[in-house]
Amino acid sequence: MKAVVIEGKGGPDVLQLHDVPVPAPGAGEVLIKVAAAGVNRPDVLQRQGNYPAPKGHSELPGLEVAGVVAALGEGVEGIAAGDAVLALVAGGGYAEYAVAPAVCCIRKPDVMLFTEAAAIPETFFTVWHNVFERGALKAGETFLVHGGTSGIGVTAIQLAKAFGARVITTVGSDEKCAAARALGADIAINYRTEDFSDVIKTETGKSGVDVILDMVGGDYIDKNIRALADDGRLVNIAYQKGSTATVDFMRVMLKRLTITGSTLRIRSNDVKGRIARALEEEVIPLVASGKIEIPVDSTYPLARAADAHARIESSAHIGKIVLTV
Ligand SMILES: NC(=O)c1ccc[n+]([C@@H]2O[C@H](COP(=O)([O-])OP(=O)(O)OC[C@H]3O[C@@H](n4cnc5c(N)ncnc54)[C@H](OP(=O)(O)O)[C@@H]3O)[C@@H](O)[C@H]2O)c1
Repeated sequence: MKAVVIEGKGGPDVLQLHDVPVPAPGAGEVLIKVAAAGVNRPDVLQRQGNYPAPKGHSELPGLEVAGVVAALGEGVEGIAAGDAVLALVAGGGYAEYAVAPAVCCIRKPDVMLFTEAAAIPETFFTVWHNVFERGALKAGETFLVHGGTSGIGVTAIQLAKAFGARVITTVGSDEKCAAARALGADIAINYRTEDFSDVIKTETGKSGVDVILDMVGGDYIDKNIRALADDGRLVNIAYQKGSTATVDFMRVMLKRLTITGSTLRIRSNDVKGRIARALEEEVIPLVASGKIEIPVDSTYPLARAADAHARIESSAHIGKIVLTV
């Protein structure tokens, strides 16, 4: 099969299309004939040598796919060859065939395009777990997500709104502010022209926000802690500006804050399977009915994975970038 291989760490050009063997599904796994594969920022980190594949998993890039089940490994039940699915994979998505744990597959609704379906798993699993499970966001609370037009951001804005929260987001341009509002954000802050801390003080009557999903880190860590309300929760999923900071922890004690975070890829199939079932039940119907959109910024054929990486690294994109196979 054709697959994208990372030929030594470096820029987008290290992504090269090669002929490689079709992987075989092991016990509890399925082989998927890939129709589309999502591109995520963690793929860029992997390409740069900063996010290696976990032991025992494909070293090929690609954390999510949509396609048709082509073969079943031993012991797989409830899913059959020919089923159209979307799946979270721990690697190997940029390929004509990919292996996924059966528990990480979700049946694709007929109304959903494969390019939309492939753009779902990585960000929906991440947002569901970090915002609703770790962050325990509830209806009526105020939620702040940084990077509102990222793949994660467009998902977080829409899920938080769908479940009844008030949503504030930060983005890097006025065009992105408009896009974030169109997706349902109540307030979109252009962080290049306004300080989000000041806006939050004004907009929340100084009481602050209940949950923050942060992918920025650095000086945002202390600013986030200051922006949280009593009993607030800060969830970190990336540290694009660095993972060290000077923080006054007095606020953590006085406001009874919770600081947490997680990475998805290394979690067990039990955890991922549990998240998949929750999404299947509570979220996929909202996507199928059109209440939640899958904003696809652009699609590229598999052979142009390098261009897709150049696009995500430019940060000009709004929403998801998808490879077609
Ligand atoms: N922990 C996990 O399990 C997990 C899973 C998936 C993704 N992630 C992480 O989540 C992040 C988003 O992933 P993605 O695939 O959605 O990537 P993406 O679409 O490339 O998003 C990165 C975003 O960061 C924004 N950003 C950068 N500096 C910012 C700042 N100072 N303030 C506000 N926003 C800022 C960029 O927006 P502007 O260009 O407008 O600045 C861009 O939209 C990545 O860092 C990724 O590594 C973590």
